[in-house]
Amino acid sequence: MRPLILLLLAVILSSCDKITKVFQEDDLLQRPVASRCGDCHQEIYKQWKESRHSKAWISEEFKRASENYTKEKCLSCHAPYEITVGDKPKVRDINLADGVNCASCHFRDSTKSMHGPYDVFSPPHPSTKDDQYTKTEICSGCHQETFKQWQIVKTDKNCQNCHMQPKEGKLIQKFPFDLFHASKEIHHHGFIVPTPKPDFFRVEAVKNKENLTLYITSLKTPHNVPTADHGNPKYYIDVEYIKDGNVIYSDSQTLTKKEPLIYKQTKEVVFPVNFSYDKVKVTLSRKLSWEEKPKKIADFEF
Ligand code: HEC
Ligand code: HEC
Ligand code: HEC
Ligand code: HEC
Ligand code: HEC
Repeated sequence: MRPLILLLLAVILSSCDKITKVFQEDDLLQRPVASRCGDCHQEIYKQWKESRHSKAWISEEFKRASENYTKEKCLSCHAPYEITVGDKPKVRDINLADGVNCASCHFRDSTKSMHGPYDVFSPPHPSTKDDQYTKTEICSGCHQETFKQWQIVKTDKNCQNCHMQPKEGKLIQKFPFDLFHASKEIHHHGFIVPTPKPDFFRVEAVKNKENLTLYITSLKTPHNVPTADHGNPKYYIDVEYIKDGNVIYSDSQTLTKKEPLIYKQTKEVVFPVNFSYDKVKVTLSRKLSWEEKPKKIADFEF
């Protein structure tokens, strides 16, 4: 019964312009702050608030690196007006502290509506179904380097599959609107960087008198590891040489975005050795751009 009533209501509302206008909340079409979208899209707002996109402007490191926001060329991807495909966006002049916010990713001047993956009935604001949102290209204007690396790999997984994993749920949590809308897939707006499992890497070792040579291959992540346009994420390769049960020497090398692991290409990392040992423990750890300390990903013994 309920679907029928909803359908009727939907037909009445959408067929009568005046009534639709009653429900329309005009400030939503003026690129408001994200918390305003959070009045209804409460869950998505909470996820976004925890994401790096919400910190893109207020990040201390960004403030420092952009010389207190004086480097013009740095600003647009960190506080965009409206995202574009393939090219970097223009900077906006309001609500800068909001960083990469909801309106910049969803509101389009061309239609004066919220673009998204679905065909929805959304009385508070007009919406437009736009297939770009389910494609990698939507991320490409800002994540330009990572996008290029992804293109070379030729995978059918897009950025959203891994960084916006979907879950069944409602797009809004505001009474009474939520009663009128069926559950759909909501894509996690925390833009989370997954923690790789040990089997994401193959590590082989060749030991001889002068060197320990490691051959490391990244097997699963379909872009460089680490990858960045402007941040500086790092991987650490720590080695501990063990003799008679004791660590007798340790050494370390760092992988940066300029010296990364490239998907399915084996990287050779050489550690000089001039002593004898029984075995060696190799630990991989990762530090994202904004993290203070590295976290362990995997270890191997040879
Ligand atoms: C308007 C430009 C822009 C667009 C479009 C954009 N991003 Fe971002 N993204 C950024 C910026 C800037 C940061 C860094 C924020 C910070 O940490 O200061 C970031 C950070 C991230 C991070 C976190 C990286 C880390 O080091 O933790 C992920 C993951 C991410 N974005 C994924 C995506 C995905 C997936 C898409 C497409 C759906 C996307 N982004 C679209 C600008 C953008
Ligand atoms: C007063 C409540 C309300 C507010 C505030 C609101 N929305 Fe919505 N929005 C809705 C409803 C209702 C739907 C449709 C939900 C459904 O069908 O499941 C919707 C759907 C959407 C969609 C999906 C569009 C599609 O075609 O896939 C997007 C994107 C969206 N809103 C973005 C925003 C943004 C960005 C803001 C802030 C500028 C915002 N909304 C503020 C009620 C609201
Ligand atoms: C970096 C760009 C970006 C930002 C910032 C962003 N979104 Fe989205 N949003 C997307 C993409 C891409 C999708 C579609 C994902 C898919 O279908 O693969 C999406 C989907 C949606 C949908 C449809 C339901 C779903 O999850 O698929 C709603 C509603 C929505 N976003 C609202 C918001 C709101 C509200 C905010 C701010 C709190 C926000 N978005 C911030 C890129 C963004
Ligand atoms: C098959 C899943 C998958 C796809 C598709 C994917 N990524 Fe990732 N991404 C990962 C994993 C896993 C990591 C963490 C890698 C690591 O640290 O070893 C990561 C890390 C990142 C990071 C953080 C920086 C770093 O070096 O850890 C950013 C930013 C990012 N991805 C952006 C993107 C963008 C943009 C796309 C689309 C062009 C994309 N990713 C496609 C799985 C994926
Ligand atoms: C083309 C879009 C774009 C431009 C322009 C841009 N960035 Fe970024 N920035 C990103 C993206 C995307 C990320 C997140 C992932 C990554 O590093 O690729 C990021 C991340 C960062 C980070 C790491 C996250 C953090 O908050 O600590 C810093 C620092 C940063 N950018 C500084 C700058 C500086 C300084 C400039 C100007 C020289 C600049 N960015 C220009 C897209 C951009």
